[in-house]
Amino acid sequence: MKRVAEPELMETKEQVISYSEADFSEGEDNLINQIDYYLLKNKIILGEKDLIVDLGCGPGNISEKLAIRWPNTEVVGVDGSKEMIIKAESNKKISSYRKQLNNLYYVCDDIKNFELSAISQKKEINLLVSNSLIHHLTHLDDFFKTIVRLSNSFTVNFHKDLKRPLDEKSALELKTKCSSKYNNILTNDYYASLKASYTYKELKDFLLKNNLLSLEVFEDCDQYLIVYGKV
Ligand SMILES: C[S@@+](CC[C@H](N)C(=O)[O-])C[C@H]1O[C@@H](n2cnc3c(N)ncnc32)[C@H](O)[C@@H]1O
Repeated sequence: MKRVAEPELMETKEQVISYSEADFSEGEDNLINQIDYYLLKNKIILGEKDLIVDLGCGPGNISEKLAIRWPNTEVVGVDGSKEMIIKAESNKKISSYRKQLNNLYYVCDDIKNFELSAISQKKEINLLVSNSLIHHLTHLDDFFKTIVRLSNSFTVNFHKDLKRPLDEKSALELKTKCSSKYNNILTNDYYASLKASYTYKELKDFLLKNNLLSLEVFEDCDQYLIVYGKV
């Protein structure tokens, strides 16, 4: 199926509310466990004052879980949508875990412009994460340029996203499944996201062509792709 790009930012109130109210906790917990497993396997311990950045953090679901799992670190969620950041801030305030979220901050910025110096003069990023972001980027180049710019030799990258279905029929089947759980706005956004997603081959070819072979790509179940490693 040919890729159809979608708008990068999720800016309308309706989109933000629908996304924020949906329960994605199973997938989010899986992602946190996958990151944890990767760090353990590579004997990487995130400690006091280490910095985690969650790119395209949306309403902050993943950022909150990162802040709770690694309480001694500082976690910064970045999103270019003002509405999403307002929602993320308000979710943090009303969270039943709010007392454990003192290490979590949000920044409203396009990831293409985001500079580490905006959040810290001294720190480097130890863990750079994103979930469901890559497909929003019109050009794959912009995503990889950003993570290369923000990483240093020890930064662990872990980015999970949807994988583009093989054909329109498979995309429509996934859309129908989604509609049984979520409202119309979210279902239509999900369908647009499926069509905007990249394939394993597109990501792998990009890494090959751009000499980024220290990053790995793998297929997670049949619906997701994960890019991980160091740049
Ligand atoms: C599908 S949501 C995922 C939110 C969150 N990562 C999660 O898993 O719950 C994608 C988010 O990426 C943000 N986004 C897309 N392109 C972006 C860009 N160029 N710069 C900053 N944020 C971006 C959107 O505004 C949206 O909030």
